[in-house]
Amino acid sequence: MKNVTIVGLGKIGLPLAAILANSGNFHVYGADINKFVVETVNKGLSPINNEPGLDKLLGKAYQSKTLEATTNTTEAVSKSDVVIVIVPVLTKDKGQINYQYIDSAVEEIGKGIKKGTLVIFETTLPTGDTRKRFGKKIEQLSGLTMGDEFYLSYSPERVYSNRIIQDLTNYPKVVSGFNKASLELASSFYKKGLNCEVLQVSSLEVAEFTKVAECVYRDVNIALANELAMFADQLDVNIKEVIKAANSEPLSHLHSPGVGVGGHCIPVYPYFFINNGLVEGLVTEARKINDSMAKYAVKLVEENIGSLKHSNILILGLSFRGNVKEPTKSSTLLLMDELKQKGATVYVDDPLFNSDEISSYGVIPFSKDVLNDIDIIILQAFHDEYKEFKFSNFVNCKLVLDGRNVLDENYIKSLGMMYKGIGVR
Ligand SMILES: NC(=O)c1ccc[n+]([C@@H]2O[C@H](COP(=O)([O-])OP(=O)(O)OC[C@H]3O[C@@H](n4cnc5c(N)ncnc54)[C@H](O)[C@@H]3O)[C@@H](O)[C@H]2O)c1
Repeated sequence: MKNVTIVGLGKIGLPLAAILANSGNFHVYGADINKFVVETVNKGLSPINNEPGLDKLLGKAYQSKTLEATTNTTEAVSKSDVVIVIVPVLTKDKGQINYQYIDSAVEEIGKGIKKGTLVIFETTLPTGDTRKRFGKKIEQLSGLTMGDEFYLSYSPERVYSNRIIQDLTNYPKVVSGFNKASLELASSFYKKGLNCEVLQVSSLEVAEFTKVAECVYRDVNIALANELAMFADQLDVNIKEVIKAANSEPLSHLHSPGVGVGGHCIPVYPYFFINNGLVEGLVTEARKINDSMAKYAVKLVEENIGSLKHSNILILGLSFRGNVKEPTKSSTLLLMDELKQKGATVYVDDPLFNSDEISSYGVIPFSKDVLNDIDIIILQAFHDEYKEFKFSNFVNCKLVLDGRNVLDENYIKSLGMMYKGIGVR
């Protein structure tokens, strides 16, 4: 049985580790700098919520002793035939790339790697980094030659939170290699471990570019939907109806407009192109449009309510999207800044976060004590809990802004409140 180390037991790394540990082919070490994560996984439990199938796989791996978590990456790597890197690369305020986590992971790998090991990068990366930044660094630290004494591959993670286990086995895995030997080793590893279709591409750079291109496609198409929604508002046309009608034509795939694009993927990865030379055009415009939607939403509220000074506004959802506990670049953060500038008091509700977690973002966690004070409600992340949300309890609420165009407009209007969506008057 081969040993595999997964570096980074986060929302993506842990499900991957759990599947591999149950494949019957591998003993898996999960390396993470977070002690709580390591201790939880070593009890056979999941530190991640809302990932269907994960708890069961972790329980089974615990029984069969095929998954062991550790904070000592170097030691785990030194015992492994395959190492997978899945720690984040983030961006700072102006989109500059922040390599802090992955650089330190690569340091640990370089110190531990033995001859013949296959290293696979799965983290979304700027094109060229696997070879030039990380492969070279591992060569320097280990003294081993890339492609000969250790093998190097890049294979992006293309999964969606809440559906990761399913996506990992159902989506074709795009696999690339530094050389033929690396490509073949990585391809056979994924076929064995995930039992999935493998789509080989000709270079590390093609695979890296592919993943960012997928994210850019989403960002640009959401921006298009947002632009059309704002124009529909001007013409007093309902964009929801337009999209449904337009998408009945098989070549039309209009996305849904909304109050913004959050998370650590779609608003981040376009900068991997922008900061590498794609300085103008659709990609940069899309970023601007999507980041301006919070401002647009607040303008819509003002147009209907007047000044927001001294008003009490409740935002539903701190997470960037429904049913995922992930606040990175959430549109709520942009909304909150905009509303505070207008002199409003902002309350935030999110069933996935506790009060301390919500307060740490500089807003007041919503509590029933202020129920009667709320003037305006903005839906930002449509968690399942909000499907049955009792808007009727908010007796002084004048307007509901549906930032995802998902609420029942007639129900809200029947309560005597105004309803406004993005491109829906
Ligand atoms: N979350 C998604 O929906 C998604 C989808 C597709 C691809 N991805 C890719 O997966 C990457 C990881 O995403 P995630 O959602 O799992 O992130 P995450 O924040 O949930 O988890 C990252 C984990 O890495 C650990 N970590 C950080 N630095 C480390 C180090 N030096 N050594 C060991 N562990 C370290 C953290 O403690 C954390 O547990 C993303 O950057 C992205 O490239 C994510």
